[in-house]
Amino acid sequence: MYVVRSTTAACTAALLGLTLAVLGPTASSATTTPVPAPAPAGPSVPGVYAHRGASAYAPENTLAAIDRARQLGFDWVENDVQRTKDGELVVIHDDTLARTTDVEQVFPHRKPWRVKDFTAAEIARLDAGRWFGARFAGLRVPTLREYLDRVRHNRQRLLLEIKKPELYPGIERQVLDTLDGSGWLDGQSAGGRLVVQSFSADSVRTVHRLHPGLVTAFLGTPPVADLPRYAAFTDRINPWHTTISAEWVAAVHRLRGAHGRPLEVDTWIVDDAETARKVRRMGVDGIITNAPDVVREAVGGADGAAGGVRALAG
Ligand code: G3P
Ligand code: CA
Repeated sequence: MYVVRSTTAACTAALLGLTLAVLGPTASSATTTPVPAPAPAGPSVPGVYAHRGASAYAPENTLAAIDRARQLGFDWVENDVQRTKDGELVVIHDDTLARTTDVEQVFPHRKPWRVKDFTAAEIARLDAGRWFGARFAGLRVPTLREYLDRVRHNRQRLLLEIKKPELYPGIERQVLDTLDGSGWLDGQSAGGRLVVQSFSADSVRTVHRLHPGLVTAFLGTPPVADLPRYAAFTDRINPWHTTISAEWVAAVHRLRGAHGRPLEVDTWIVDDAETARKVRRMGVDGIITNAPDVVREAVGGADGAAGGVRALAG
């Protein structure tokens, strides 16, 4: 199953049915309380994705952040993948190490501290947690392999972003090889637990060409007239929430993506209840957030798996 567009009315009806079933016919017929009218049909409940893990509560892109997402009850975690000088894939957002590690103290003469100028062994020496809070001191920048193992151990799912692919020629094949080596591309189930996205259309197109069965997403807000070109190689268009309207979301939904199913929209980064409700009303399929608990509370959804999509097969 690919899309389940549940409605408020359907949920209300289901809950009512469950209530009646539990109470039984005597209890239900005995009540004098008017049965509430079903709520009007509305947009689907969006799936919720923990952005860089539950990064409002733990240092972004660390194993602690995905563990925190799991503790909060979220399957889907998002991350950012880049490459070291000696070819190791690592999980970090910025293309420099300065903001989220203590690299300036450990390697003071290596400015501007680019990820691609450091070996994996050097990066493994860095503290990737203390900047966020003393209790996170000692956390490391995970390699992609370590990260994949933890996501799998936690029985979570992954929205993997290839970050700045223009800096890392060939990274698409390397990411796919690493996923394959860790069992993430096995069988029919990959579409239900893995999505690969990028701001680079070329990168998304390359991933689709190398592994056509994989669900992909393009990060951005293409004009409606350009959407068909993207639909040829991707399944989702994932925009910044400030750039969209209900009309644009509807235009995306009218098209079928690379696997013949309606294109979906997962928007980012929504961390407050009001905005979460607003993008839900626009009809988005998913919300990517640093604070997944806040969004869940606002839109009434669960994690991405329950929100809508999520598998091409299986
Ligand atoms: O998943 C969407 C989001 O991660 C895109 O922005 O800069 O946080 O990678 P950024
Ligand atoms: Ca990202």
